Amino acid sequence: MRRWPERSLSDEIHLPVLADKVVEQLSSCPDGFFIDATVGAGGHLKAVSKAHGKRFRYFGFDLDNSVLQRTENHLTQMGIEVELINSNFSNVTDFLQGRGISTISAILYDLGIGSFQIDDPKRGFSYLQDGPLSMSFDGSSASTAADIIESRSEKELVDLFRTYGEEPKAKILARTIKNNPERITTTGQLADILRSVVGDRRFIKTASRIFQALRIKVNDELAHIEKGLESILPLMATGGKAMVISYHSLEDGLVKRIFKKFSGKCVCPPKMPECRCGTVKLVRPVFTKPLIPDAKEIAVNRRARSAKMRIVEKIG
Ligand SMILES: C[S@@+](CC[C@H](N)C(=O)[O-])C[C@H]1O[C@@H](n2cnc3c(N)ncnc32)[C@H](O)[C@@H]1O
Repeated sequence: MRRWPERSLSDEIHLPVLADKVVEQLSSCPDGFFIDATVGAGGHLKAVSKAHGKRFRYFGFDLDNSVLQRTENHLTQMGIEVELINSNFSNVTDFLQGRGISTISAILYDLGIGSFQIDDPKRGFSYLQDGPLSMSFDGSSASTAADIIESRSEKELVDLFRTYGEEPKAKILARTIKNNPERITTTGQLADILRSVVGDRRFIKTASRIFQALRIKVNDELAHIEKGLESILPLMATGGKAMVISYHSLEDGLVKRIFKKFSGKCVCPPKMPECRCGTVKLVRPVFTKPLIPDAKEIAVNRRARSAKMRIVEKIG
């Protein structure tokens, strides 16, 4: 059986994106509960608790139990009081109701994947290192990326690569993958196949799109964003804020649509004879355009280059 190398915390560096803006936006929120819906290595939570201290009680959610355990040790050592919950952020509302908490001050979603996951080959998220082709955040997804590649038809893979990866060469890539004589079980095998089709020059862009498409599918990411946001916005206290940092247009487009719907604007397709989207006016956008990192932040953190943060504030 193949063995993948163990990694330690010291191998991992994850710089939180737009952390200053997150901290700044919280100044006008009422005191109460702050939820980090994607706590990861705890970078945002550390910055927020350093700036806002006891104004908030902190809860951190993450699907990835392995990172959560290390983050808990790290935050405890730093004297930060936080309760970490190993659960999908689409369950935050159920969790709060279970605790008898009826309103929260603010919630942050820093979507996607952390450096601590990409850089660990065992997790199967990286096209630059060889590892098992998994891509499950919590190891419990119904199918791994390898299962999806194996079980889906060529046409289904084309649709997947187009819809979730916006990949222009979806057809030829899906055909080459399906024509591979052996089952594809490692990130290295998949990366080699992609490279054989697009060559070295286009490899990184193509691999990022295909790996992104598979990751979104494995973890059903867009459905959880929708469920999470739609259920939490009614629980925000007046003046409370929901902040979402996204890293690609599919995520950002979905967040924009949900925020628009909860700002009282219809998001039905233009040809719809009457409004059926269930729009309701609960929030207002804090900015008309998303916040993006400045050149200084991008220079020290390349992962920040595609980030966009949208923020809404609960109205009375
Ligand atoms: C970009 S990282 C967050 C990094 C974090 N803000 C920090 O400063 O360290 C995204 C995190 O979200 C987690 N995640 C992704 N989808 C999730 C979901 N539906 N529910 C809970 N956590 C999720 C991932 O496991 C990952 O740890």
